[in-house]
Amino acid sequence: MNEVLKTIKERRSVRSYTDRQISQEELELIIEAGIYAPTAHNEQPWYFTVVQNKELLDRINAKASESMAKSDNEWLRGLGANPDFRASYNAPTVIFVSGRENAMSIQTDTCAAIENMMLAAQSLGIGSVWVGLLWPYLFLDEARTALKLPEGYKPAHAIAFGYASGPKLPAPVRKTDIVTYIK
Ligand SMILES: Cc1cc2nc3c(=O)[nH]c(=O)nc-3n(C[C@H](O)[C@H](O)[C@H](O)COP(=O)(O)O)c2cc1C
Repeated sequence: MNEVLKTIKERRSVRSYTDRQISQEELELIIEAGIYAPTAHNEQPWYFTVVQNKELLDRINAKASESMAKSDNEWLRGLGANPDFRASYNAPTVIFVSGRENAMSIQTDTCAAIENMMLAAQSLGIGSVWVGLLWPYLFLDEARTALKLPEGYKPAHAIAFGYASGPKLPAPVRKTDIVTYIK
């Protein structure tokens, strides 16, 4: 199997991290992979905020837990009420990907960049997990300031990165009855 296909198949969502930080050089390679993703009309409507500051990550996790604790969803309420739960799983780096508000296709473009970044990280031996559970924080007014966003951008996604601790988990089984070939 070629290296690209191998990297795609070997990437797993990592939910347990060591304290080892990602180097600046590795971060730049990961971001560079992100910005080589395709974008609608070549708008490249993204902005990346790399957070390695523990106090800020603590606040973001605490605010996300606070929102989850008030959710209508029982599972989310349970996570929010658990003082040991951290949505970013103690990963030492979280990259927030924001989109330009007047862009054609913020969601699609930022998601394409994110998958590239996660695969780049995997190729460097770095684990990652997309953290939808941090979305509640992204909706707070303070997020734009805390993430130092330029005017006209809004936060869209958060992805945790770091070195995995513990054994590698098997891939969740993929559904296979999901293709029609019309020839
Ligand atoms: C938009 C999105 C949000 C996600 N949010 C979370 C999350 O908050 N916490 C988490 O542990 N995993 C999260 N995941 C990871 C998925 O659970 C994971 O990708 C899926 O179970 C398949 O496992 P794999 O990534 O190891 O292939 C998210 C994935 C996506 C695409």
